Amino acid sequence: MADLFDNPMGLCGFEFVEFAAPTPGVLEPLFEKLGFTRIARHRSKDVDLWRQGDINFIVNREPRSLAYYFAQEHGPSACGLAFRVRDAHKAYYRALELGAQPIDIPAGPMELRLPAIKGIGGAPLYLIDRYEDGKSIYDIDFEFLPGYEDPARRHPVGHGFKLIDHLTHNVYRGRMAYWAQWYQRLFNFREIRYFDIQGEYTGLKSRAMTAPDGLIRIPLNEEGGSGGQIEEFLLQFNGEGIQHIALRTDDLLASVDALQMAGVPLMSAPNDIYYAMLEERLPGHGEPVAELQARGILLDGSTAGGEKRLLLQIFSQPLLGPVFFEFIQRKNDEGFGEGNFKALFESLERDQIRRGTLKVAAAQPQPA
Ligand SMILES: [Fe+2]
Repeated sequence: MADLFDNPMGLCGFEFVEFAAPTPGVLEPLFEKLGFTRIARHRSKDVDLWRQGDINFIVNREPRSLAYYFAQEHGPSACGLAFRVRDAHKAYYRALELGAQPIDIPAGPMELRLPAIKGIGGAPLYLIDRYEDGKSIYDIDFEFLPGYEDPARRHPVGHGFKLIDHLTHNVYRGRMAYWAQWYQRLFNFREIRYFDIQGEYTGLKSRAMTAPDGLIRIPLNEEGGSGGQIEEFLLQFNGEGIQHIALRTDDLLASVDALQMAGVPLMSAPNDIYYAMLEERLPGHGEPVAELQARGILLDGSTAGGEKRLLLQIFSQPLLGPVFFEFIQRKNDEGFGEGNFKALFESLERDQIRRGTLKVAAAQPQPA
């Protein structure tokens, strides 16, 4: 993909997301259900590579590692993130010059020292230039498991998810500008969209940051009211961090069927009025409404001027503490489902009310 604008760090997509959990046996069964396969094991550390398509999830169980302490503090979570860059050394020193804080990740003898800076919530943000099959960090530091020695077999299809579409950070109120500027200063991200979503009782503000490669997208969320879902996340997660990770497929209907077969709990479908109104909202969209409704898939985008730009999406229930996943298919739409945002927001709010974490009686005066 050609760069959208000046790309001083040579960014080229997400390389991996690293996960940790304070107790064993939490991440592995979940990743299996999500369609991932464990294909390689680190040569010296208690670290595994799980893959689906071109998506790499790292499970780090190494005692007294950064990941270990992160999980002690935050519970099961995404404790690290990696960007692909053209030249990791150059990108690292440029980041330090621009004020990034280095993070030292100890490496064994003959192992790669992965350059990392301190990112969201103190989690390491790695800069990786070895990502080509055969020359990747995994080819050097990992051993492929039996059955995956052949590079042609190293990208299991799983449920059909091919890449990380975006991942969202939840930040404390007043901190969205800090993180937007951080990604802009170091990596030349741009704000592509800004939403200020007011539910009936609470709200959230969101800035969708996109990298110059057009592949790394990081929306930033901040609480817009009081006692809302972002505040609840920050309390439960014990700090700022990755709220959800969106995985992209070319066939969401089939991928959702596979997720359901595997027993991944998904958000319940919106009511039938949502589906009845789709034709009005997106005239001539041509998507099979009954099929979407049967699975609870949401549709967004635009069909203005006869030009179809559509996005299909569905969210999981919280699966790692408050952290959840999104499953998405893009048909020429580059948004994040903002048309669905309000509907989703209100459905989460209704869920908060049902669970009793949001008291609404005083907040809902009857109109005179
Ligand atoms: Fe999302």
